[in-house]
Amino acid sequence: MIILKSASEIDTMRRASQIVAEALERLKEAVVPGVTTLDLDRIAEELIRKRQAKPAFKGYRGYRHTLCTSVNEEVVHGIPSQRVLVEGDIVGVDCGAIVDGFYGDAARSLGVGKIDPESQRLMDVTRESLDCGIAQMKVGQRLHDISWAVQEHVERAGYTVVRDFVGHGIGRQLHEEPQVPNFGTPGTGMRLVVGLVLAIEPMVNVGMPEVEVLADGWTAVTRDRKRSAHFEHTIAITEQGTEILSRI
Ligand code: MF3
Ligand code: CO
Repeated sequence: MIILKSASEIDTMRRASQIVAEALERLKEAVVPGVTTLDLDRIAEELIRKRQAKPAFKGYRGYRHTLCTSVNEEVVHGIPSQRVLVEGDIVGVDCGAIVDGFYGDAARSLGVGKIDPESQRLMDVTRESLDCGIAQMKVGQRLHDISWAVQEHVERAGYTVVRDFVGHGIGRQLHEEPQVPNFGTPGTGMRLVVGLVLAIEPMVNVGMPEVEVLADGWTAVTRDRKRSAHFEHTIAITEQGTEILSRI
């Protein structure tokens, strides 16, 4: 069942999403050689609590942290640890917050110090593919128009989209219907309507699209161990048009 949101519910989701956006902005400064992924987690948790919100991932299916931090060949759901980030790494930081029972969810990949041109291009293409998907999210379009727009941009650049994880509806639950794949056939899927709120989140690989989950039960890595990037926004269709709730 797809749960459409009222204007006032979207107001609340904007508050949650803006706190996530603020946390991600703060992490951009914090991601430097020598920092650990657990340091990043503490910074994000502190900021969310200072804003009287709750970290959304903590306690979700037994997950124990505020962020997912996914380094290099890690695709998503990397667990913050004592791992020290070094110059040339890329790290995906994924963050969620809850305000008055409503979720916001966003992610971005960040470079650590100076990174190689191929990694920069991977991150650029992934961010652009999210923009391409968002551009399709308007009344009258269909769900898989979003999916196709993401896929086309990624594959045109010579990269691949991950199939095993998808974007999602979001509201009083972190994951609601519908699923939002980053691949698909344009002109298919539900018609987009006012009140729909989605988390669109392309995960893009340099090499093959296949991923595997490590023995920790969370960390998804590319099977070929080549690099991957991830960007995510929470986006609403309102009476006034499409709004990226998690944009700073
Ligand atoms: N933003 C991710 C998602 O939408 C991360 C959630 S996994 C969690 O699925 F366990 F950390 F919450
Ligand atoms: Co998400």
